[in-house]
Amino acid sequence: MAKRIGVLTSGGDAPGMNACVRACARTAAYLGMECFGIRRGYDGLIAGEMFPLGPRDVSDTIQRGGTILKSARSAAFQTPEGFGRACEMVKNFKLDCVVVIGGNGSLRGAIDLQRAGVPVLGLPGTIDNDLPFTDFTIGFDTAVNTALSAIGNVRDTSASHERVTIIEVMGRECGDIAIYSGITGGAEIILVPEEPVDISDVCRRLLEERNKGKMSSIIIKAEGVDINANTLDEEITKRSGLDVKVVVLSYIQRGGAPSAADRLLASRLGHKAVELCRDGVSGMTVGVRDGEIVWDDLESAMAMPRKPLDELIQLAKELVV
Ligand code: F6P
Repeated sequence: MAKRIGVLTSGGDAPGMNACVRACARTAAYLGMECFGIRRGYDGLIAGEMFPLGPRDVSDTIQRGGTILKSARSAAFQTPEGFGRACEMVKNFKLDCVVVIGGNGSLRGAIDLQRAGVPVLGLPGTIDNDLPFTDFTIGFDTAVNTALSAIGNVRDTSASHERVTIIEVMGRECGDIAIYSGITGGAEIILVPEEPVDISDVCRRLLEERNKGKMSSIIIKAEGVDINANTLDEEITKRSGLDVKVVVLSYIQRGGAPSAADRLLASRLGHKAVELCRDGVSGMTVGVRDGEIVWDDLESAMAMPRKPLDELIQLAKELVV
């Protein structure tokens, strides 16, 4: 009997998820396997919302943001009943492996399934780039580029009005979106959760820039920094007297067509996942390190230390002299 994989996308959607689902469906067809799409993440697994996903079903999807499978942060999956039903459904639908494309919480769910004897593979799908076993997650590059384009627009108006603009980007507890978009967008100040924030120091740097003749500034603030953007605005205004505005990019940076880098990464990861399933391998993550596709034991992979941001944090500081 042909091997059968189920694919689901879970948690916050990320540009490139569709490219990954497409790669799973097409690789399965190429290898003579069957692919089933599972709707709405773990909620759909619990409800048995599964359907065959052939190579033509994923036509015209590689360029689309979001996820054609829909996504959810499943509360039901956290309950013993919901979890038990999810395990049952895998058996009922005779899935040899469930490919979970998602972020931190979703891959922790995958660990639980694997522990319960359900064969799974975990693929990094999140704009946050906060998974330790891979250099890049699906969606991160697109989110950075979207933030970059917003920084460019904000800089035009900020310069015209000689303002300071705080742009808040996503990333949960991880500063990668902020540091990558901040450096490449030439931000004057970048605030990330990996480093404590000193508001007096921020004000001093902003005023020093004015003295050097720089009449507008962009501050990129990661959402995980423990001061919210409006409070930061009030504090800087009060302490420096500068004109400050706030732009929160929010979901704008999670949507949109995936970049070439995300489409390629997603295609490579989806392809490898199906090959692993064909070979009877499960309980693994699939990621990319130093340009190579790598697979690691799911539990150990999620426990790996994250790459430190120190070098990029220092680079950002040295490039704004
Ligand atoms: O994990 C992706 C992410 O976009 C985070 O950057 C953000 O904190 C969160 O999801 C927002 O989640 P929700 O879609 O539940 O509002």
